[in-house]
Amino acid sequence: MNLADIVRPLLRWYEENRRSLPWREEPTPYRVWISEIMLQQTRVEAVKPYFERFLRELPEVEALASAPEDRLLKLWEGLGYYSRVRNLQKAARIVVEQYGGILPGDPGELRKLPGIGEYTAGAISSIAFGRPEPAVDGNVLRVLARLTADERDIRDPAAKRLAAENLRGIYPAGRSGDFTQALMELGATVCLPNGAPLCERCPLSSLCEGLKTGRAEALPTASPK
Ligand code: ADE
Repeated sequence: MNLADIVRPLLRWYEENRRSLPWREEPTPYRVWISEIMLQQTRVEAVKPYFERFLRELPEVEALASAPEDRLLKLWEGLGYYSRVRNLQKAARIVVEQYGGILPGDPGELRKLPGIGEYTAGAISSIAFGRPEPAVDGNVLRVLARLTADERDIRDPAAKRLAAENLRGIYPAGRSGDFTQALMELGATVCLPNGAPLCERCPLSSLCEGLKTGRAEALPTASPK
């Protein structure tokens, strides 16, 4: 298959099926950053109220940089993985001191900040800055492995690199944030894991090599850890 063929049907599906989420309505760099850190280990529905409260109390990077620790921990209480909020504040201080309070849009710069890895850097760069930068997590790898009937082990770090390279080449101009989130959304709501894809609802089913060869449910291949 030609991977570029997924762009139009996927964007169209996303327009019709995208969930309205607080960080999607006003995707400023600060809001997208906070949402992506919260979403790293927590489900969308659980994140929503935390996100709203956090933004109400700490509406910009300066407020986060100077917040007392007990207030931060209170805002994070129940989300778990408290290193995330500690790293958020460390990063906020760096953004204030070294970037004039403005989060950088370049993924390489973003990755220098505590708590921001490859995936989160791509998500922020594409969603908040409109750059053609992929964000490849397990969901997106699964979508790609099925689409291309790729039997290679997705635990192999090369798989992620290759997926990111392939995606970077097909990013639609002016629609980077939507494309990143459409891939995430398809993986989260249709191309489900554990052998349970909802192929009959998938906008890419006619293109999917995995489905054509009867392998969609069995993919991706992952060696035991
Ligand atoms: N998971 C990670 N990032 C997300 C986003 N921007 N929207 C929905 N789910 C996500």
